[in-house]
Amino acid sequence: MRAWWKAAVVYQVYPRSFADSDGDGIGDLAGIAGRLDYLARLGVDVLWLSPVYPSPQDDAGYDISDYQDIDPTFGTLADFDALLAAVHERGMKLVLDLVVNHTSDEHPWFAQSRSSRSDPKRDWYWWRPRPNNWRSAFSGSAWELDEATGEHYLHLFSRKQPDLNWENPEVRAAIHAMMRWWLDRGVDGFRMDVVNFLSKDPALPDGSGAGAWTGAEHYVNGPRIHEFLHEMHREVFEGRAETLTVGEMPGVTVEEARRFTDPARGEVDMVFQFEHVQLDQGASKWDPRPLDLRELKASLGRWQAGLADTGWNSLYWNNHDQPRVVSRFGDDGEHRVRAAKLLGTILHLHRGTPYVYQGEELGMTNAPFAAIEDFRDIESLNHYAEAVAAGSAPEEVLAALRARGRDNARTPMQWDASEHAGFTTGTPWLAVDPNHVEINARAALADPDSVFHHYRRLIELRHTLPVVAHGDFTMLLAEHDRIYAFTRGHEGVELLVLGNFSGGTVTAEIPGWEGAELLLGNYAQRSEPAAGLELRPWEARVLRRLHR
Ligand code: GLC
Repeated sequence: MRAWWKAAVVYQVYPRSFADSDGDGIGDLAGIAGRLDYLARLGVDVLWLSPVYPSPQDDAGYDISDYQDIDPTFGTLADFDALLAAVHERGMKLVLDLVVNHTSDEHPWFAQSRSSRSDPKRDWYWWRPRPNNWRSAFSGSAWELDEATGEHYLHLFSRKQPDLNWENPEVRAAIHAMMRWWLDRGVDGFRMDVVNFLSKDPALPDGSGAGAWTGAEHYVNGPRIHEFLHEMHREVFEGRAETLTVGEMPGVTVEEARRFTDPARGEVDMVFQFEHVQLDQGASKWDPRPLDLRELKASLGRWQAGLADTGWNSLYWNNHDQPRVVSRFGDDGEHRVRAAKLLGTILHLHRGTPYVYQGEELGMTNAPFAAIEDFRDIESLNHYAEAVAAGSAPEEVLAALRARGRDNARTPMQWDASEHAGFTTGTPWLAVDPNHVEINARAALADPDSVFHHYRRLIELRHTLPVVAHGDFTMLLAEHDRIYAFTRGHEGVELLVLGNFSGGTVTAEIPGWEGAELLLGNYAQRSEPAAGLELRPWEARVLRRLHR
């Protein structure tokens, strides 16, 4: 089946940090609308907006207090309609973030639910006389005692993000109605936040182990998750053409992902999985270790093979929760531009739908956070407080936050070399990276060799060559510790994609490709093409050969 989104590229906008039109230091909808031509130039097909709904902003908008309005910080519903129209005018689509595992504790549903044990909305959330041992993703217990009624409520994330009880059919019906309301307004689909956490084992048994994800076996891909997603598909999406549904699914396995994305089952179009962004860590995300390229290839290769005939995957290095990939898996020093292009090339030539996170197309890097006061993210702040209280050395905890903290992705978009990078005329809510004097969109647009123009070409390849969107995938050199190599094949066209993940020179022993046509690379072409498959520092190449 040739769904349109197989040949599409999604661009994630993090509205707080994209463009500020009114000088309050926080990005907004009018700011995004003012930058659409930039996105159209890049060539992306779909914009995904992180949450813009009314929110106390405890978790940067992933704590929603009204699903059917816009937070005044970001604008109004009229601004939203104008943005949507402007996106559609440029032939792009707009996808919203759907955060329905939990609401804000300031959502009227929760205010009612907590008001008394006999309130009709009591059962819309998970209330228990005693907590179990589940842990919150943002440190501490996943339960909070609510003094008013003497019971505890479940929050897998912050205490201001109580989990909705999806066992209750009224909850499901209310969410479905809300989703239809946005689709009727013209939005093109949803990226569904931690959507494989919706179904909990209603007995809420204790989890095994004691780590950060204690309890996860009772709510990750829980007992009724396929039923809930199928019901949502039927109630909300059936009969609507051209929508897109993306399930963000931490802890999803390849086998489960096949089920979630098998078109015959009617659940979601693609998953967003996390295996490859957890390879460079030990016991937890705060225990960074170097990436072993062989493990990255083994992981991504297994996902390619597992979804080869049924199902579909998202392809990403970055989002608002991940550190910047050029700093993480590449080189953000001497070889930054080449490494950024290489990473983009490897990702975009896989089978799946690529996601570009704002600034990735500029090769934006992790930020130089000096002290804990420089961080804003609740996950980082809670972890710091907990780890330091437990006796860790503050400098060591800070080192982990610098490597892995989500604020790395959230520093403002770097539009130009001016004081706040053209992001705002006010004081930015999170400091702009000082390297914006060199790394910025204005400079990138003017330089034909920039990371931006390389990404533009990658997107164009997906749009124009069926082998990129639809071809099969074969991993090569699985055991090589520096070269990432694979082929794609489709209807007599074969591509070889090569990447040297090192600052040295290496040779790829892959016979039969000498003299093949170079479709795209990150070095000027050599004068002596007979040199074969010798790869210079952080070199990437896409070669094509045709079978007669
Ligand atoms: C998802 C979001 C993340 C958020 C969490 C809770 O993982 O991407 O930013 O903190 O869900 O909503």
